[in-house]
Formats: sequence, structure tokens, C-alpha cells
Amino acid sequence: MTLPPWAVATPERRAHIERVVALLGEWAGAMKVGEVERDRWVRAGWLHDALRDARAASELDHGPLAADRAARDGERDRGVLDAVRYHSIGHPGWDDAGRMLYLADFLDPGRPFDPDERRDLARRVPTERDAVLREVARRRIAWTVRSGWPLLEETVQFWNSLVP
Ligand SMILES: [Fe+2]
Ligand SMILES: [Fe+2]
Repeated sequence: MTLPPWAVATPERRAHIERVVALLGEWAGAMKVGEVERDRWVRAGWLHDALRDARAASELDHGPLAADRAARDGERDRGVLDAVRYHSIGHPGWDDAGRMLYLADFLDPGRPFDPDERRDLARRVPTERDAVLREVARRRIAWTVRSGWPLLEETVQFWNSLVP
């Protein structure tokens, strides 16, 4: 797969998406998941920001817009669609496609902040996925709180689902 034909992505966005997909492919290899599962993660990666640069899209609704468009385009995998739909906010009902996409989106090595810490986290994903997921969720949610933004219900439930 590659970017869907209906994608609206700047070159910078496309580069981000390609790095996310590369990370997902690397992890799938290191974690020895099967071809079908690897393909699910990679599809979620290609789709997740496909409409981020569309005129009507916002930070909060570009996931749902892309999921709806992908479903119309024939994507039938509920886990892949939920990965795309909730990638900005988290979701307690995610399967591995959602969890891995959430990690890859944040741990994209092209993001400018905390490069060393995020590289270490990315390296630990294949062996300590759940611990890294908690750490990434902690950072993302703390950032939302520090920014003074409200937490969505899905985000709170996602966090609670990660607490052992
Ligand atoms: Fe996004
Ligand atoms: Fe993204």
C-alpha cells in the first residue's frame, strides 16, 4: 500500500507518514508478527494523516475524516479503522493496530522534541511494548493537561485501560 489516492498531504506530512509506516514495519519485523498483522499496522499508518492537510480537517477531526473515507474506500477492518479514527486521542478498545500506530506517530524520529529519549523509547517497543505505551500516553496526556485543554472521555478511558 501507499498513500491513498484521495490523500491531501503536504510533502512534510507525506514524509512524516512514510517515517511512521517505516517504524511500524520495523517493529512488525522485530516482533515477528505475521504478514497479515504487519499489513494492518502499515495500512493504519498510511491512512492516519491522509486528510490532515485537507481544508476542512482539524487536529481533532482528521482521524475520523480519514477513517470514514477509508471505510467508503473499502477498508473493512474495524481495528484499522479505529486506529485511524482515534489516533490523536487514544481509545480503550484498541487492538494492536491502534496501539502501534499511537506509538509510531509519537516516536516518529523526524519530530524535533526529545530526540534521544524518543529514540530510546522506539528501540524498546519490540520487547517492552506495554511499558512504552504507558510512557508515551503519559507524555501525550501530560502535554494536553499542561496546555490547559480538556481531556476527552476516550483519552481518560484509554489511560485508565493502561494502568495495571
Ligand atoms: Fe494525525
Ligand atoms: Fe501523524
